[in-house]
Amino acid sequence: MPNLLIVSNCPSDNTRVLQEAVVRGATQEQFEDLNIVNLEPLDADPDNVLWADGFILGTTENFGYMSGLIKDFLERIYYPCLEHTEALPFALYVKGGLDGQGAKTSVERVVTGLRWKHIREPLVMKGDFCDGFVSDCEELGLTMAAGLDAGIF
Ligand SMILES: Cc1cc2nc3c(=O)[nH]c(=O)nc-3n(C[C@H](O)[C@H](O)[C@H](O)COP(=O)(O)O)c2cc1C
Repeated sequence: MPNLLIVSNCPSDNTRVLQEAVVRGATQEQFEDLNIVNLEPLDADPDNVLWADGFILGTTENFGYMSGLIKDFLERIYYPCLEHTEALPFALYVKGGLDGQGAKTSVERVVTGLRWKHIREPLVMKGDFCDGFVSDCEELGLTMAAGLDAGIF
């Protein structure tokens, strides 16, 4: 039974809606064998990462970088997990105000070090909040869950 870990910071109603959409996408009925743990960054630790067979990270862009909470999470798990999670599938979504590229690049740099494998281009959402963000997040969760469930990643 594959295990999926979702970690995202949610400082606002909009970001909470996006996190819920990712979880909704991943918890479709047909993936009943998939175990999903959805954690706030401060509650996630190396044991959660070592348990997982795939990861979804969500971050806001703050000051042109990933959020402080996601950075703290990655700092705490990096060395304990470095040699143990290589090539595991990974997906990223970024919620920015007007940009988001800095957050995307900063997470990608760390994940390259961990040698996690992107399953798709990161989802970067910026500008006015819209329904498309929600459906894109659902699709991201669905894509990861389907791949893990089918064992194709
Ligand atoms: C301290 C701070 C710094 C921010 N820096 C950036 C930034 O560099 N680039 C950007 O696109 N948005 C930036 N934002 C906007 C957040 O990314 C945005 O508020 C977040 O995605 C939540 O979205 P929402 O306001 O639609 O709920 C910043 C927000 C805060 C609070």
